[in-house]
Amino acid sequence: MSSVSPAGKSFYVTTPIFYVNDAPHIGHAYTEVASDVLTRWQRQKGSNAFLLTGTDEHGEKILRTASANNSTPQAWADKLVHDAWLPLLETLDIDNQDFIRTTEPRHKKNVQRFLEDLNNKGFIYQGSYEGNYCVGCEEFKTDSDLVEGEGAFAEELVCAIHSKPVERLEETNYFFKLSEFQQPLLDYYEQNPNFIQPESARNEVISFVKRELTDLSISRSKDKFDWGIDIPWDSNHIIYVWFDALLNYITAIGYGEDQDKLESLWPASIQVVGKDILRFHAVIWPAMLMAADLKPAERVFAHGWLLVGGEKMSKSKLTGIAPTEITNVFGSDAFRYYFMRAIAFGQDGSFSWEDLSARYQAELANGFGNLASRVVAMVHRYFDGAVPEAKNLTEADKKIPLAAEAAVQAADKAMEQVAIQDALVAIWELVDELNGYLTEQEPWILAKDEANRERLATILSTALEGVRALAVLLCPFTPKASAKLWAAIGHSLGDLADQPLLEAASWSQLSPGTKIGELDSLFPRVEQEDKA
Ligand code: MSP
Repeated sequence: MSSVSPAGKSFYVTTPIFYVNDAPHIGHAYTEVASDVLTRWQRQKGSNAFLLTGTDEHGEKILRTASANNSTPQAWADKLVHDAWLPLLETLDIDNQDFIRTTEPRHKKNVQRFLEDLNNKGFIYQGSYEGNYCVGCEEFKTDSDLVEGEGAFAEELVCAIHSKPVERLEETNYFFKLSEFQQPLLDYYEQNPNFIQPESARNEVISFVKRELTDLSISRSKDKFDWGIDIPWDSNHIIYVWFDALLNYITAIGYGEDQDKLESLWPASIQVVGKDILRFHAVIWPAMLMAADLKPAERVFAHGWLLVGGEKMSKSKLTGIAPTEITNVFGSDAFRYYFMRAIAFGQDGSFSWEDLSARYQAELANGFGNLASRVVAMVHRYFDGAVPEAKNLTEADKKIPLAAEAAVQAADKAMEQVAIQDALVAIWELVDELNGYLTEQEPWILAKDEANRERLATILSTALEGVRALAVLLCPFTPKASAKLWAAIGHSLGDLADQPLLEAASWSQLSPGTKIGELDSLFPRVEQEDKA
């Protein structure tokens, strides 16, 4: 994927849209944060970057939850969106450009338009469906998707993800001719080796598609339930919730209404999904787009799961942790940093309070936060808050801008490959280099003798430039801390949002003599008696 978008084309990132049957847990938050970090990185590089997220509100699962709560599905969805899903974006400091709900007219109308188009093009037919359905996944399941149940479901076959029995369906449905796209999909995967990532996910999808691709039932009979969008030409059927949901990625950006907007954003630069929903995004969705003469996305990235006791964290299994449990104690920056740093993006990972607490203390508070506070405090103490001037650079001073440039290059290379963890590792090499530089140069000792004034100025100027570079590089990860730091040291250079990321290591940006502000602790001590 090229980092420089073609003229006029934005860098478009999508998250999956979330089911509103329940409130978010940290697994959902993980998807949101990664997508936001990727988008903010491109924006800081100067791209017109657009992040879409939203909610998936139709289907049997939502209807059942609403009924169980004595609510209509629409009232239930409204409540969950306003009480849980929109607040999640605040909790995590997500900078999304739009939020789509599948119950909005802009979506419903254009889902129908899309289906009409596919019908006119001969890709839809009526047939009978007989098979298994998992309401938790909202997915038709083959026998190979099922496993032996345990406990109350011993001796039954259950969904491998939800560990609950599937339901038998026998319906007359409309089908999408997915099977016709077997070869076009295989060709697309071959011609676009970066389309599915990571590599293991790509291999899994390719062998799945090579085995056999059957046509997909894309409607449900209203005899059973009716919470969905009508098949435009047959009001006895509603559109299968996944077919409806996948279209959010284009109905939100003008499909059927604003062709210019659609073309400025589609194809998406990267679609972030959990590995459980990869096939929908890497098989069904590109086939739907091909049928409509639209291009598939440039890249679909499947991340791993947050595990609890070796299993996917989930509310239905009562293992969900609410994101606010973490952010209320450590703040949103720490949440964002921790999950991006501790787990290789694309692999499963476990959350632990001990690990979070240890990384908060060592990497954020002592590593980055303390570095920034010490440098700003010394500029105030020894130079009355005015940026000092560097003169007669030693080898040690010259190493710092080189380390900063290396961090920018390595972090950007990693981010282009969606190796988010590696990007943070690269940035922390600069944090460590700067801390080591201060330890070696001991400016607080030099400050005791007026004769060392020029040397002291050079060291603090160098360290301050390094901290400035860090504020820019870390902005996509820890936007609050970066903004606070920038307010103290960078205001003379304009807004943080306007600082070109790839030029973060270009040196001597702060003019000598410029006054800087005070800086409160970026990552204060946390009290968390009942956590760690
Ligand atoms: N509504 C569908 C997506 C439709 S997209 C057109 C859906 N919703 S979901 O709410 O169940 O999940 C949304 C995302 O959260 C998925 O990417 C899923 O993988 C992710 N996660 C849910 N639990 C998770 C973990 N325990 N760990 C990491 N991500 C997890 O699927």
